[in-house]
Amino acid sequence: MSNSDRVVLALGGAGKVGSGIVKGLLDKGFKVAVISRDSSRLEKLRSFVSPNTKDNLTTIVGNVGSEEEAEQAKQALLKEVGKVTDIVSSLGFSWWQGGPPHTQSLKDLHWLLALHSWCVYVVFCCFATGGAGEKLLMPGTGFLTVGAASTLAFCHVLREEYPEVPCKLNQVKINTGVATPDHMAPGFLNHLDLGEAVAALIERRNTAHNVFTINCPADLKSVLLERNL
Ligand SMILES: NC(=O)c1ccc[n+]([C@@H]2O[C@H](COP(=O)([O-])OP(=O)(O)OC[C@H]3O[C@@H](n4cnc5c(N)ncnc54)[C@H](OP(=O)(O)O)[C@@H]3O)[C@@H](O)[C@H]2O)c1
Repeated sequence: MSNSDRVVLALGGAGKVGSGIVKGLLDKGFKVAVISRDSSRLEKLRSFVSPNTKDNLTTIVGNVGSEEEAEQAKQALLKEVGKVTDIVSSLGFSWWQGGPPHTQSLKDLHWLLALHSWCVYVVFCCFATGGAGEKLLMPGTGFLTVGAASTLAFCHVLREEYPEVPCKLNQVKINTGVATPDHMAPGFLNHLDLGEAVAALIERRNTAHNVFTINCPADLKSVLLERNL
């Protein structure tokens, strides 16, 4: 199947990580669909992608955060695009720093755990996750670590529970910051480079149940592109 016959649903595609992936996929000739709760984010995404690829981008305002609303968004999506051949998920959020655990409520903990588990639960195919689940990034980010750890554990469980699903199921674990070109810091990944590398992973379709760990920008080439050849 050629890229132009494939329709990729990019969950979280209006976000920082997701927008780079959407652009990378469109530049490779894929058709891409993005669901976001926020129409202004979708407008921003439309003006961000390469102008000559805009016709291949379908945007839908919807919420995949509840089963009922996700079903509505799915129906709206299928009506627009007919079929979905691939899914990539970068759902979640960029940052949480509410303070040390004893200053937070149980409600906050439940919310974070539910959100992070849900990010994996809604989909399995290709996920962007973060290394925050293995260490405290800085004081006050403890619940982020707990939530991110649940995402990593859930991905692990899916790989073990579904060893032979007919779809390719891969995880890209990003152990560093991701930024747009105007907000780069040392060691961060440019979301455009990350998007290009994830698009190449999706394009090749030759690997399943793998975890691709990215610790620094150089890993995009050595881990995602070359290991995946
Ligand atoms: N940014 C980094 O430095 C970095 C580094 C390593 C790993 N990661 C991981 O990459 C993932 C994405 O991060 P990001 O920086 O791209 O975050 P982001 O810019 O906040 O984008 C997150 C996306 O998730 C969606 N989302 C969040 N909560 C939702 C909800 N309740 N219902 C429906 N959609 C929801 C948002 O959809 P809407 O468009 O509807 O708002 C948004 O498009 C996270 O899991 C993060 O841990 C990020």
